[in-house]
Amino acid sequence: MDSRCTGVFEDQYSRSVGTIVRAQSHYFYDTVRQIIGTSVIPRSETFTVGDYGCHDGSSSQDIVEYLLGVLRKHHGDKITVHIIYEDATSNDYNALVKNVNRNARESRNQKVFVSMCPTSFYRQCLPDATFNVILCFWSAHFMPRPVSYKDSLNKFPDGSRSECDAVAALASEAWQRFLLIRANEIKSGGHMLLIVPAEDTERKYGECSVHLQNLWVAITTVWRLLRDMQHVTQCEYEAANYPGYSRTEDELRAPFLDEASPVVKAGLRIKSLLIQHERIHIMQETGNTQDLDSSIPKFVSTIRSWTEYMFRQALSSRSSEYRRDLINSFYDLLVEYIKQQDMYTSEWDNIIAYIVIMKK
Ligand SMILES: C[S@@+](CC[C@H](N)C(=O)[O-])C[C@H]1O[C@@H](n2cnc3c(N)ncnc32)[C@H](O)[C@@H]1O
Repeated sequence: MDSRCTGVFEDQYSRSVGTIVRAQSHYFYDTVRQIIGTSVIPRSETFTVGDYGCHDGSSSQDIVEYLLGVLRKHHGDKITVHIIYEDATSNDYNALVKNVNRNARESRNQKVFVSMCPTSFYRQCLPDATFNVILCFWSAHFMPRPVSYKDSLNKFPDGSRSECDAVAALASEAWQRFLLIRANEIKSGGHMLLIVPAEDTERKYGECSVHLQNLWVAITTVWRLLRDMQHVTQCEYEAANYPGYSRTEDELRAPFLDEASPVVKAGLRIKSLLIQHERIHIMQETGNTQDLDSSIPKFVSTIRSWTEYMFRQALSSRSSEYRRDLINSFYDLLVEYIKQQDMYTSEWDNIIAYIVIMKK
């Protein structure tokens, strides 16, 4: 199992990251009300929702429930709803089944059907004109193939100029490909709601001095330490690359700027794009050393829930015991490393883009 989110700490994901993303998804409630309030849905037609890069389905739970409620309000219990959960073939679908079954029980008065689509969102996953709404949270920043960094886990902190240029070019091609395929799958008048990590190179969106990059510095430093102590080989060190890329606002808007662009020709338009800083309140902010010491392990287990797969993949040729022990040591060392840092440099401050895209 090598999903982008799963690992020993898979339950931790829905309790920590899942909770954070569920709260972020509330940003789209107005959009959902507006989409459903203004859509003409013929009686016989099924309203189809996709959750792309759904992982265990926990993050989209609130917005799916909200959407069902608004549909019920406007169309009664008679409307048929089909929710399609998409993710990579390596995803842990057992966790998804558990969450989805719980959701289905809660909405038993409505005709709600659920299915799963294990594939890759860089291919067409469903027939043309399937979806009224696609949700895609914290997933579209993943690249279609890994990017190799010689001495870094990511473009931060130590990607070389040529490595950074290569990942930027790949990200540009991947974004256009992702959009063009979705343009086929979305019905005319349908929408896609995305949350993606973004980059604010000019710090236009706030004065905050802390950023997710600090976390990458910490993770890379500890991974390097394990290499220098010869617990991992150079090959394994290089194999642990993060396949995500945070785009700038210009990069996100690029495929929509030009009337001749294939994405615009395919009918997609940005309805809104909001970029903002969000401080993730995992650490307690009392400044009391004891409180801080106890909140850092919690912070690290949240980080673990979405980074562990990188190290599991890099260590795939090792015995499962060696891998487990080394990964446990890695995160223990990360706790110790973060404890030595200034509290303000170890917080997780995210720059997030909330995007609403419409198909004409
Ligand atoms: C960080 S998780 C986000 C999960 C969930 N949407 C959330 O907001 O919490 C990213 C998800 O994207 C999925 N993913 C990455 N690349 C993918 C691809 N090419 N096709 C489908 N899913 C992909 C991963 O397997 C993972 O479940």
